[in-house]
Amino acid sequence: MTTPTYVLAIDQGTTSSRAIVFDHQGQPVASGQLENKQIFPRAGWVEHDPMELWKNVREAVGKALASADISRDQIAAVGITNQRETAVVWDRNTGKPVHNAIVWQDTRTQKICDELARHGGVDRYKNRVGLPLATYFSGPKVAWILDNVKGARAAAEAGDLLFGTTDSWVLWNMTGGAKGGGLHVTDVTNASRTMLMNLDTLDWNEQICADMGIPMSMLPEIKASSQVYGETRAQGLLAGRPIAGILGDQQAATFGQACFARGLGKNTYGTGSFLLINTGREAVRSDNGLLTTVAYQVGSRDPVYALEGSIAVTGSLVQWLRDNLGIIKDAQEVETLALSVKDNGGAYFVPAFSGLFAPHWRPDARGALVGLTRYVNNGHLARAVLEATAFQTADVVQAMNVDSNSELRELKVDGGMTANETLMQFQADILGVDVVRPEVTETTALGAAYAAGIAVGFWEGQRDVESNWKEGARWKPRMKADERDRLLRNWRKAVTKTLDWVD
Ligand code: G3P
Repeated sequence: MTTPTYVLAIDQGTTSSRAIVFDHQGQPVASGQLENKQIFPRAGWVEHDPMELWKNVREAVGKALASADISRDQIAAVGITNQRETAVVWDRNTGKPVHNAIVWQDTRTQKICDELARHGGVDRYKNRVGLPLATYFSGPKVAWILDNVKGARAAAEAGDLLFGTTDSWVLWNMTGGAKGGGLHVTDVTNASRTMLMNLDTLDWNEQICADMGIPMSMLPEIKASSQVYGETRAQGLLAGRPIAGILGDQQAATFGQACFARGLGKNTYGTGSFLLINTGREAVRSDNGLLTTVAYQVGSRDPVYALEGSIAVTGSLVQWLRDNLGIIKDAQEVETLALSVKDNGGAYFVPAFSGLFAPHWRPDARGALVGLTRYVNNGHLARAVLEATAFQTADVVQAMNVDSNSELRELKVDGGMTANETLMQFQADILGVDVVRPEVTETTALGAAYAAGIAVGFWEGQRDVESNWKEGARWKPRMKADERDRLLRNWRKAVTKTLDWVD
């Protein structure tokens, strides 16, 4: 048998499912990727087909291994990372989902959240779970499925249905699946996004499950983010390889960016953007619209917590420009179009497609394009789309500074949109601090690979992650302070126009 020289990470994301193979230096050596179909049955509803997600994961792994002629014996361990709050409910006997996965962006659970908030308001559970009552999280999505799918509640009460975020769904299928009795496990980071886990004890909260009508028999076992959970099933591409890391994608990026010390953080620009700052062993409760979440837990060590600013729509606004308006043919073109003009021409785009997440938490908001005159053209629109990402990040950074009573000194970034130099420069300008991109920008997959590799001894520990991290690019602020203030003032005025739209 060959000595394993690689670790494989599966990234079951919102837009695509990917597999990336990393070597000991943390460099990607092979990858495979398939787009996930986005299903929009009604305004505000977003679904994925869980069977398609699982097929895409399998095919992405196959593509990655084949592209560099890598055999399973060369893989020391497998890590899984995933879009986080997306809820799958399936039948443990047949392996069939009872409904499409309800995606984190979906707003259909507003009534359930409102009903729960009638006693104690939106912060009713905040002390226990670190989150406000919002459509974003998975617990209310499970409640919706049990309330609306015929026979689901009875089947759940009989112990036949399982719930999982997509890490659990992939793990269950990889380690057994229908008739094979796969592992029903999730990790602390994903569990911290359900609204059902006690942040301090890391176990399921019986009372909240009862309030939401969710039988506890549906819930996966909560484990650390870096430990051996089991092996991939006997047949199949990766047969017999240990699965040893699970982290929600934003926590995985935090790990991959080596944000291990208190005060270190990163912003990942994907479908949405998510800024996480490590708060160490302390689960700091926010007074300014941020979430308290688990950052990671390595083996039997204490968990490490983070404050998070979640922005629902950033990269997906570029896709919307491409798919719904047809103004660009591919996502990269947004930069060229934005560079065809010298500024936003007075236009501001607030993409409140799923309401507004951090720091506002306004489910009643809907998207708005304001400041229009006859002068505004496609170039200005492209510019407003890019700037929206940077402005939303600035709002989150402001909340983070107030909550932590300190000033962010520089921002580590990663994710697909960081290839956009115009956006990165504007981000540095609007924040007034340096923006730093690592050499390897696939930090989400890399973080899951590190968690898995550390658990099997492929890497000795977090120090290896730190020494592998290398700066790739840096953008310094160039904008004058009064111009920055003017733009932010206009942006904040634009945000007010989106509120109170949905009753
Ligand atoms: O909380 C949602 C987040 O995990 C989704 O991330 O990168 O798949 O859009 P992404």
